[in-house]
Amino acid sequence: MENFPVINFEKLNGEERKATMEKIKDACENWGFFELINHGIPYDFMDTVERLTKEHYRKCMEQRFKELVASKGLEGVQTEVKDMDWESTFHLRHLPQSNISEVPDLSDEYRKVMKEFALKLENLAEELLDLLCENLGLEKGYLKKVFYGSKGPTFGTKVANYPPCPKPELVKGLRAHTDAGGIILLFQDDKVGGLQMLKDGEWIDVPPMRHSIVINLGDQLEVITNGKYKSVEHRVIAQTNGTRMSIASFYNPGSDAVIYPAPALIEHDNNDKVYPKFVFEDYMKLYAGLKFQAKEPRFEAFKASNVTHLGPIATA
Ligand SMILES: [Fe+2]
Repeated sequence: MENFPVINFEKLNGEERKATMEKIKDACENWGFFELINHGIPYDFMDTVERLTKEHYRKCMEQRFKELVASKGLEGVQTEVKDMDWESTFHLRHLPQSNISEVPDLSDEYRKVMKEFALKLENLAEELLDLLCENLGLEKGYLKKVFYGSKGPTFGTKVANYPPCPKPELVKGLRAHTDAGGIILLFQDDKVGGLQMLKDGEWIDVPPMRHSIVINLGDQLEVITNGKYKSVEHRVIAQTNGTRMSIASFYNPGSDAVIYPAPALIEHDNNDKVYPKFVFEDYMKLYAGLKFQAKEPRFEAFKASNVTHLGPIATA
């Protein structure tokens, strides 16, 4: 098995730019995942994000999680749990409007730091989208523009902790799924692992690496690239020891953005493989009920409604 792709972002500024772009291309085409180092977000700032996230978990979330586990009798389960994940989470929205000031239980310092972190990640996401455009042969700004809709992209963060689990073989930290959105930037615990991705039919670890940002591609990029890049299934295996921190930020299209394969990426001799066209919000409505199921039926559902519009998709 080849090594998990690690991209040294700094090298984009030097002589190794071409080789680094090639590495990103390979990761997008063959993995759907890669890890970024030297990405420009200061490491001491990431340490602050981590410290405040872990403090917040201990102070506001841990007890609540224990009570939930007790109320559901999850400690003593004997058969596989298929309708729940062993995770403690809360969500922050940054774009189109921030809700950070309304999320309960956050200290002023934590709110301020998460706002700043989101801004840095938003910039990184947009930088990455342009690198993807370059590799795909799309004009600079193409993906950002598609994601924009009328009100700009949707950007949010899921802060999760995966506490130690007595029965990891019976209850997953997070059940297998692909991400619905655009591009996902993850700051994960560097000591407690558990994230896995599906590669050539095998689950492999997304290795914890201090100060790295894990990038993965969502369903929308699969549609826009007409399958050149794929959203890849991933899951979290709960651990018996240690709590795993996971701060995943989702740079997604705006709710009214119209998503369709980039005309330049459609091979005209192979019409069967054209992905559908839809409004992002409609995709999310469908995804809400089907997150833990295969993505293909989601694409098919929209394809069925596109049948009479195949022409416009190809030329839009
Ligand atoms: Fe995910």
